[in-house]
Amino acid sequence: MSTVMPSETAAGMDLQDEARKHLWMHFSRMGGYDDEHQIPVITRGEGSYVWDDKGNRYLDGLSGLFCVNAGHGRPELAEAAARQFAELDFFVIWSYAHPRAIELASKLASMTPGDLNKVFFTNGGAESVESAIKLARNYHRLRGNGQKAKIIAREVAYHGTTLGALSATGITSLRSQFEPLAPGTRHVPNTNMYRYPGDRDPILLADAIEEKILFEGPETVAAVILEPVQNAGGCFVPPDGYFQRVREICDRHDVLLISDEVICAWGRLGHYFACERFNYQPDIITTAKALTSAYVPMGAMIASDKVAEPFYEGNESFAHGFTFGGHPIAAAVALANIEIYEKEDLCGHVLAKEDEFRQMLESLSDIPIVGDVRGAGFFHAIELVKDKETMESFDGPDAEKLLRGYLSGELYSRGLICRADDRGDPVIQFAPPLISDTEQFEEIHDVLRPVLEEASRRMIK
Ligand SMILES: Cc1ncc(COP(=O)(O)O)c(C=O)c1O
Repeated sequence: MSTVMPSETAAGMDLQDEARKHLWMHFSRMGGYDDEHQIPVITRGEGSYVWDDKGNRYLDGLSGLFCVNAGHGRPELAEAAARQFAELDFFVIWSYAHPRAIELASKLASMTPGDLNKVFFTNGGAESVESAIKLARNYHRLRGNGQKAKIIAREVAYHGTTLGALSATGITSLRSQFEPLAPGTRHVPNTNMYRYPGDRDPILLADAIEEKILFEGPETVAAVILEPVQNAGGCFVPPDGYFQRVREICDRHDVLLISDEVICAWGRLGHYFACERFNYQPDIITTAKALTSAYVPMGAMIASDKVAEPFYEGNESFAHGFTFGGHPIAAAVALANIEIYEKEDLCGHVLAKEDEFRQMLESLSDIPIVGDVRGAGFFHAIELVKDKETMESFDGPDAEKLLRGYLSGELYSRGLICRADDRGDPVIQFAPPLISDTEQFEEIHDVLRPVLEEASRRMIK
């Protein structure tokens, strides 16, 4: 691991002040920062840890937003980038190719299940989702079914913020300010099993997709987009047989199945691609984030031979692309990142350690506010409730007080970066780098227990 010190900032620069004045941070309440509520400035990373500008160390319990799966500070990745800079800095893959993009596409095709052999590079998750939505529509059009254009997604699911991807995103508070969105997306229930009636067959959640297809008219539906484990709402795991049923439904109605693996791929669930964990074959995989362990931005949409076929015939082409898609530096880093995965068997490590990780979180179940622990691999959530018996949740002002008024700040000040989130019911999410082990699990536990106990005292009368 590297021991490189943080780069020097411009002479005399007050980072807090300049950040508040000029750095428009994403999804951030910029008006909430002042001398008392400072912007966290992260300056250095190594392994499962990062440091701030004051020298404080944090356990990166979220892998920098589900990204840095191989851990921070890997010299191999820096070296791969440096070698590539010296060889070929940039060339576009619009009508040209270069060795790293070819090698990476070939590598990805060899790692995906089934006939997912056509790799279309992007710069991130939303671009991968946009590409998949456009490909699905275009695919049906080329086959003479131009009316098949609607996309079915799930409530509370997050698929990105560009207008097309946002249309698939099922979070009202993220959508409403930007309406009207791209037309033609519909939403169905997600697999929140914590709140699903115990006497109802969970497979009905898959059947809800078929009902929606039938309601809309199968001749108007292009694709269903689903995450293997849904992130927003707090790591919703599919019930047994869910994806097998969805696959059957999609086949029955000539609807493509898009597996949105922007978070779930790259070992997060113990497999390179998370559809393998749940044993289903998508028509398209969307991925990004940990493809390069996020050392440089890169995403990919990986389509099956079947879906690509109409575009590989005659004069057809997919009239879509991004200047930086398949950037040589990103491709070189992705190849080196995959080499690390293979050499260190990071997927095997996750599968060997996921039970220990989960048991650590479950050991907090005696705390009154801990309602549910769920997830898979190194991707878990704790749902926070007012009342375990009734599963009563914290609503608007209470959730605000709990998450932003206490938990986020307290966990951070005790050296743990994780995500306190209320896009669905309030949860805390954990997704540590895949190199994390017992030591990091214990550290997470030792921060969480007193903080959740205190949260219970504050919030439950
Ligand atoms: C499942 C899923 N899809 C798409 C996206 C969008 O990715 P990006 O932020 O790289 O555009 C995300 C981001 O977290 C995601 O979790």
